[in-house]
Amino acid sequence: MAEARAPEKLVREKRGYSDRNEKALKKKTFHPVQVIAVTSGKGGVGKTNVVANLAYSLRLLKQRVLILDADMGLANLDVLLGLIPKYTIQHILLGERTLEQIMIDGPEGMKILPASLGIQELTELTAQQRMALLSQLELLNECTDVLLIDTASGISSNVMFFNTMANEIIISVSPEPTSITAAYAMIKVLAARYAGKCFHLLVNFVRGEEEGLEVYRQLSMLTEGSLNLSIHYLGSIPTDAHVQKAVKQQRVVTELYPSCPASRSFLSLAKKIIHLPVPSMPRGNLNLFWRSLLGKSIDHQEDTISL
Ligand SMILES: Nc1ncnc2c1ncn2[C@@H]1O[C@H](COP(=O)(O)OP(=O)(O)OP(=O)(O)O)[C@@H](O)[C@H]1O
Ligand SMILES: [Mg+2]
Repeated sequence: MAEARAPEKLVREKRGYSDRNEKALKKKTFHPVQVIAVTSGKGGVGKTNVVANLAYSLRLLKQRVLILDADMGLANLDVLLGLIPKYTIQHILLGERTLEQIMIDGPEGMKILPASLGIQELTELTAQQRMALLSQLELLNECTDVLLIDTASGISSNVMFFNTMANEIIISVSPEPTSITAAYAMIKVLAARYAGKCFHLLVNFVRGEEEGLEVYRQLSMLTEGSLNLSIHYLGSIPTDAHVQKAVKQQRVVTELYPSCPASRSFLSLAKKIIHLPVPSMPRGNLNLFWRSLLGKSIDHQEDTISL
């Protein structure tokens, strides 16, 4: 029996989700985690590529990265990375699989959590299902520095939900006027509903740095004038044929062509991200993130959770 369990233990240790985490939870230690959602008003502006390449670049910078694939549509993150998720959170809820069994290993040791759960499903969970899921999700805290959330586009309740859960929101935008107006609409809705959020602008598909700055100027004039809100310029990613070449091979461009212009921009973006202040308690607490994600009703069960 002991022999049969050994490989599983090895996998657990390799992945860093071993007894260390359980001990940390028991000791009530908290490790602050940066939770970042990547979103956009208009579709197809490169969110999934940004998430995957940012994750890869952050791994190069020794950050432990977890991606929450929260795009309930075609869930193209796995396709982009050439990965085939066998299971999702649904399997945990059904008691058929553990978190370790549903997590996917991406390139350079990034972890991907295939969610396939929207706000609708989350609100329909029974208290027992929430507890079961939460106790598994909390094992991730001690082995994560950055949680990246890949959202769908637009202002659906699902997208809004995941954005409001995040500590930082990266709005991905292209220089096209339709993308800029959609980004503005998105910021407007998010800012009206959830004050205090910081919006970082990332301009993809630029011809040069000046074009990214110009988009930033246009959007900040709109947000400062009408919303009295400043946005932070994170940077730009150039249009680069290497990105599509990598996508065709189901690899991230930062891995396949590390020195191409887009890859270099992704790396400098990652460097900026790690210099963003990691929130202290309570916002940097991933446990609270999971709890909020799973809904307020979890609070009623609080006493039974050993934190
Ligand atoms: N900097 C870039 N240079 C060239 N092509 C790019 C760049 N960024 C993204 N692309 C291409 O744009 C397409 C859309 O990218 P991606 O799937 O990441 O967008 P998305 O915002 O996640 O889309 P959706 O809204 O459908 O989820 C892909 O085919 C990708 O290869
Ligand atoms: Mg996408």
